[in-house]
Amino acid sequence: MTDTIDFDRYDRIRPIRWTGDALELLDQRKLPFEVGYVSCDTSDEVAAAIHSLTVRGAPAIGIAAAWGVVLAARTIEAVDGAEAVRKLEPAMQRLNDARPTAVNLAWALTRMRRVVGEAGPDWREVMEREAQAIADEDLAANRRMGALGAALIEPESGVLTHCNTGSLATAGFGTALGVIRAGVAQGRIGKVYAGETRPWLQGARLTVWELQQDGIQPTLIADAAASHLMKTGAVQWVVVGADRICANGDTANKIGTYQLAIAARHHGVKFMVAAPSSTVDMATPTGADIHIEERDPGEMFAIGGVRTAAHDIGAWNPVFDVTPHELIDAIVTEKGVIERPDEAAMRAAFGA
Ligand code: MRU
Repeated sequence: MTDTIDFDRYDRIRPIRWTGDALELLDQRKLPFEVGYVSCDTSDEVAAAIHSLTVRGAPAIGIAAAWGVVLAARTIEAVDGAEAVRKLEPAMQRLNDARPTAVNLAWALTRMRRVVGEAGPDWREVMEREAQAIADEDLAANRRMGALGAALIEPESGVLTHCNTGSLATAGFGTALGVIRAGVAQGRIGKVYAGETRPWLQGARLTVWELQQDGIQPTLIADAAASHLMKTGAVQWVVVGADRICANGDTANKIGTYQLAIAARHHGVKFMVAAPSSTVDMATPTGADIHIEERDPGEMFAIGGVRTAAHDIGAWNPVFDVTPHELIDAIVTEKGVIERPDEAAMRAAFGA
């Protein structure tokens, strides 16, 4: 085992590229079969890319939205930041409305509003610097979280993860996948299992591909195999990301996370949530207050354009669920580890 992590060796993908003129997004609808970037020239193109999951993952959509504001600023004139923010409000609202559950989107826009609103005539430079800072801080937070989360894992453990929480979902390295990368690098994790994450298949299409780029060979499981996997004793930890962590520690994440937490508790498997503090929403008291996104039922009828469901049927497609804090053993952010999170522990770590 080692304590050092060669971050560059384990982190090669960048889903979001700012060219100075446009925002380039690695098209996650097409991965892993096509690896290509789409270019956004307007904030509305960025909003559409967020809604269509061209870019996805809580931190990544916040970063993309921040750059979307920079693109929107190309269409206005303003003498100072306060005037700019007033004029940009409709575009920011459209970015905000692109997806409802991950708080990072609203968090990034609120931060842009505040910093730009306080700027003088140089507000354009201030704005661009802030968007870059949001991305840079996310990468730094992920690396810190990786080290903190991995330290909780005993040598040669097996871990199960869900959805995609890696470089593709962040500025780089990843949240839960960052913990897993760090754990593999340190020899703490001997085996990685990834749930396929129906219906959009973030696990099967993205996580598995992303780990392969690092030379890590994950084992894919059907989502329905998770409880059985735990029963075999093959995994000691479930490690997942988050889209919103409430004031009492309740955590929204990709649909299916909740059932993993229930199964983990039943089988004595530990359950870790890794997310940057930008995912913590102390203004939302409990999971019951979270708006859970429901997407087009059509996403459930076909895989890769091939129909897999019977015709003329209905479907319900909530894409997130809430894991109650009682089922979480540790929440890891760049600020530290909260074991057995509850409202008191969250308030002690994050204030009001
Ligand atoms: O619908 P998605 O693919 O955007 O959902 C992503 C997730 O649920 C991730 O687990 C979460 O955003 C954490 S990503 C670091």
